[in-house]
Amino acid sequence: MRTYFKPKNKLALLYKMKILVTGGTGYIGSHTVVELFNAGHEVVVIDNFDNSYPEVLENIEKITGKKVDFTNVDIRNKQALTDFLMAQKGIDAVIHFAAFKAVGESVENPLKYYENNVGGTVNLLYAMEAAGIHQIAFSSSCTVYGEANPPVDENTPRPAAQSPYGNTKQICEEVLFDYTKASNLKVVSLRYFNPVGAHDSALIGELPIGIPNNLVPFITQTAIGKREVLTVFGNDYPTPDGTCIRDYIHVVDLAKAHVKAIEFLEMKKYTDAYSVFNLGTGQGSSVLEAIHSFEKVTGVKVNYKIGTRRAGDIAQIYANCDKATNELGWKTERDLDNCMLTSWIWEKHLAGK
Ligand code: NAD
Ligand code: WQD
Repeated sequence: MRTYFKPKNKLALLYKMKILVTGGTGYIGSHTVVELFNAGHEVVVIDNFDNSYPEVLENIEKITGKKVDFTNVDIRNKQALTDFLMAQKGIDAVIHFAAFKAVGESVENPLKYYENNVGGTVNLLYAMEAAGIHQIAFSSSCTVYGEANPPVDENTPRPAAQSPYGNTKQICEEVLFDYTKASNLKVVSLRYFNPVGAHDSALIGELPIGIPNNLVPFITQTAIGKREVLTVFGNDYPTPDGTCIRDYIHVVDLAKAHVKAIEFLEMKKYTDAYSVFNLGTGQGSSVLEAIHSFEKVTGVKVNYKIGTRRAGDIAQIYANCDKATNELGWKTERDLDNCMLTSWIWEKHLAGK
């Protein structure tokens, strides 16, 4: 039986959905679970804690006051995944985050990435078909655009991927597209730009294992004294200050986009069974701008030096997000300063400060 909401406006979904979130204890997944609860939906989470911890479940409960319906399932295990989904009742849609995401590791161990990211997605589609679930939001990435002239929109051509990780995202998009042609499946592929920041409560955030590859955790770890110096990878790019430009999107804004995207499917607002949306801010920020934003909002100096370029980096990319604004009714609410501030509060929380 459906639980109906009090109507917020005539475009809003009027009832509660039951949504399965794979990888729901991870960085973006955990924030999305919080926003799904905030929007009144029922959530079922699976994860195998490959890159997350059980404490995240308690912290989601502290934030939302809702107990998370969690099961440890590895999406590489097709039988276990199918048995799990078949035993569930009334799931309306899936948001699929579970994947590996380290670009460098994917170069060293491509099969690990194809097995989990592509194989796991195929297993999930089989399991969904068996369980009669026909709606999915998929975590894609701006990496599919490679080096392109920004701002990039969803029609920007996708060149050959530059890493096995990037290729897994391209392949999964193709798998999902092809499967919409042969089934009742409805898909939104969400191409994230650079997700950063943490929840205002500082109870959930990104947990980089080992030395971070990404800029923002490296900034916060340097500022707190865990790393001695941040190396800016090159200041000789053809950008105004010579450092690379990216589109840093706050993870809470990103999480809210998932609520809109899944409701978009439920309300059958799509014209095609397979839709793609860029999720970014539309604003490019350079590495130096990111560092200076951090220093401004925290009052803490970052010890950084200019180094050589990192292999594989592109000079600049940022999104055109008009499609998400026009069709999903979503836009970002937070700026780079808020990304930096919440990342810092999270880093201090991790350090027990
Ligand atoms: P994350 O590693 O924090 O979360 C992924 C979660 O999936 C983890 O909790 C992990 O334990 C789980 N998982 C991995 N393999 C699994 C398996 N076989 N079975 C069950 N659970 C499994 O990563 P994230 O940053 O939250 O990214 C979520 C998704 O978004 C990924 O698909 C990633 O590729 C994509 N993405 C991330 C970024 C980014 O910069 N963070 C950018 C673009 C796209
Ligand atoms: C941002 C900028 C670096 C670290 C990666 C993945 C991509 C996507 C998002 C998943 C770049 C510079 C960084 C440092 C630096 N993930 N930098 N010093 O490379 O844009 O994208 O995350 O889909 O696939 O490749 O993000 O945070 O690593 O780098 O100067 O110590 O910061 O050169 O210009 P990137 P990033």
